[in-house]
Amino acid sequence: MTTNMNPTKGHLAYLNGDYVDLHKAKISVLDRGFLFGDSVYEVIPVYNHVPFAAQQHLERLNNSLAAIRIDMPLDHDTWMEIFARVLSASPLNEKMLYIQVSRGAYPSRGHAFPEEITPTVLVTALPTTRKVVLEGVNVITVKDQRWANCRIKATTLLPNVLAKDTAQQVSNHDAIFVKEGYALEGTASNLFMVKNNKVVTTPLSANILPGITRAIVIDLLRSHHVDVEEKMITLDELKKADEIWLTGSVQEIVPVVLLDHCAVADGLVGPMWKRITRLYADKVERETT
Ligand code: PDD
Repeated sequence: MTTNMNPTKGHLAYLNGDYVDLHKAKISVLDRGFLFGDSVYEVIPVYNHVPFAAQQHLERLNNSLAAIRIDMPLDHDTWMEIFARVLSASPLNEKMLYIQVSRGAYPSRGHAFPEEITPTVLVTALPTTRKVVLEGVNVITVKDQRWANCRIKATTLLPNVLAKDTAQQVSNHDAIFVKEGYALEGTASNLFMVKNNKVVTTPLSANILPGITRAIVIDLLRSHHVDVEEKMITLDELKKADEIWLTGSVQEIVPVVLLDHCAVADGLVGPMWKRITRLYADKVERETT
């Protein structure tokens, strides 16, 4: 395999206390993450080899772990040391940190939590395909078929990957989940819309992931005196929006210009998106250089 075909050649994985070649890292087939999807994860964006908003991501990991009744396996300083070591082994310019914690492996299979079990902890650096989407993307809406606990960043992502594939089968970039007439979020992103200069985003609840990018975008807008309202967005309201954005750690803030094959407003990226994109880029630069 050439380096081109293998972008993670030479990458290190931190796995349960050891650093190993990512391509040689192995976990047990009895791991409950594999058998039951009994695990949670985080994706931390990296700029100039520096993790961005790492503290917020570790706090959310802590919340996800608490929700599935796993103790936080490492302290903050140890996480940060691990991040630095796996990042230093990666020559990639465009990368992210991937963290996964499962309940661990046990010699037999049973739904009940084993009394004595040690979590499986994986950290590695993986390539990203971050590209600035200046012209905007097209998205479709799909019925939300996920579970009732979407605030947990669980690795059980089957409805998300199926929805992404459904979108791509009809040459769309992504899909937005709709539940009971409300547009909630993307397959791996939070949802914003702009109407009459006001920014609206879905409020935090068990319906959506509490996105770190979402929180940063809200803070940036409010600190620049833009009106931001956290309220449920009906599909009808979304169709009449002046602008629509999807936010996520890797993709940042993506403007949507076609929704279910119809133009969003005039079908061009909007002025508020240009403004927030600049504010976000400035913040990233301040914190990672
Ligand atoms: N996904 N909503 C969902 C369902 C997500 O999976 C994600 C992130 C977000 C945005 O969260 P944040 O801003 O913290 O990245 C919202 C990650 C990146 C993924 O699964 O790859």
